[in-house]
Amino acid sequence: MNATAVSHPNIAFIKYWGNRDNTLRIPMNGSLSMNLDGLTTRTTVSFQPSLPFDELIINGHEVMGAGLKRVSEILDLIREKANIDARAEAVTENNFPSGAGIASSASAFAALALAGSAAAGLNLSERELSRLARRGSGSASRSIPEGFVEWQAGTNDEDSFAFSIAPPNHWDLVDLIAIVSAAHKKTGSTEGHAIAPTSPLQTARVADAPRRLEKCRQAILDKDFNAFASIVELDSDMMHAVMMTSTPALQYWKPASLAVMEAVRMWRANGLPACYTMDAGANVHVLTLESEAQGIEKKLRGIDGVTNILVARPGGMAKIV
Ligand code: PMV
Repeated sequence: MNATAVSHPNIAFIKYWGNRDNTLRIPMNGSLSMNLDGLTTRTTVSFQPSLPFDELIINGHEVMGAGLKRVSEILDLIREKANIDARAEAVTENNFPSGAGIASSASAFAALALAGSAAAGLNLSERELSRLARRGSGSASRSIPEGFVEWQAGTNDEDSFAFSIAPPNHWDLVDLIAIVSAAHKKTGSTEGHAIAPTSPLQTARVADAPRRLEKCRQAILDKDFNAFASIVELDSDMMHAVMMTSTPALQYWKPASLAVMEAVRMWRANGLPACYTMDAGANVHVLTLESEAQGIEKKLRGIDGVTNILVARPGGMAKIV
C-alpha cells in the first residue's frame, strides 16, 4: 500500500487571508493562483500495519511534534474514508531550497493528499482531492488542479474547493522569485489567518475581494498584463495592510523587499511588463512575460539585498508518478 505523488507550490494573485472556519479552513474570500512549475514536492506514502505511529521524513530528516500532528490529521481523514487503520510513513522531498522562505505547505499537503489517498486505495476526484488538501493548508487546495487556479470560498467542507480556469500553456507568465531573506517566518500563516479579523481593514479587504477576483480572472483569460498587474499589486498590498494592522501586528517586509517593489513599479511606468506580489514572507514574486524575463532577472540581481532568484513558469496539476 504505497504511492508517490508530485506537486508544485503556487503563487496567489488574489490572496487568501483569514478563515470563516479555522478548523475546516473555509476561507473568508475566494482566491486565484498559478502553480509554479520549476518547484516540486515529491511525497511517498506507505501504510504499514507494523508501524506503531505515523512517521514523517522531510528532506531526509524525521519530523515530530506539531508538523507530524498536522500530517497525521490528514492521514486520519484518509484512513476514515478508506476504512483502514494502519499507520503510515510519509517521505517528502522539495527540489527547492528549504529555508529560502518559499512556502512549501501548499505543495506539501497537495502531494500528501494525493499520495496518501492513492496509497489507501481511494480513487478521489480532483474536487475531493482539493478539499482534502485544503484541510492541511488552505492554499494546498489550489495546488491540486493545473495551471491557473481559482479556489471558490464556499461556505462549508463540500463547496470549498479549487478548479483550473486555464491550463499552464494558456499564458507565458514567468515568476521571478527575488530571495531577500532565507529566514523562516516568525509567524506562520495558520496563526496569521486566526488573527486576521483583529485588523479593522480586514472587513474592507474581504468585502472588495469578489471584485478583485473577477478583474484578475478576466485579465488572465484576456492575457491583459496591465490590467493583471494593477489588480495583483493592489491585492497584495491590501493583504499586507491587514497583516500590519492586526493584533499582534505582522510585518513581513524587509528593506530589500521594498527596494524590489519600488524598482518594479518604476520599470512598469517605463513600459516593461512587471508587477510584484508577496506572501507571508520577505521574498518578492516578480511576475513578467517570457519575452522580458531574462532582462528583468538581470536587473533584479543588481538590487542590493537580493541574494538569489528562483524562476518558475505555469505548472501542471498534482500527479501520481
Ligand atoms: O495555505 P496557508 O495557510 O499557508 O495560507 C497561505 C496564505 C498566503 O500565502 C499569504 C496567501 C495565499 O493565498 O497563498
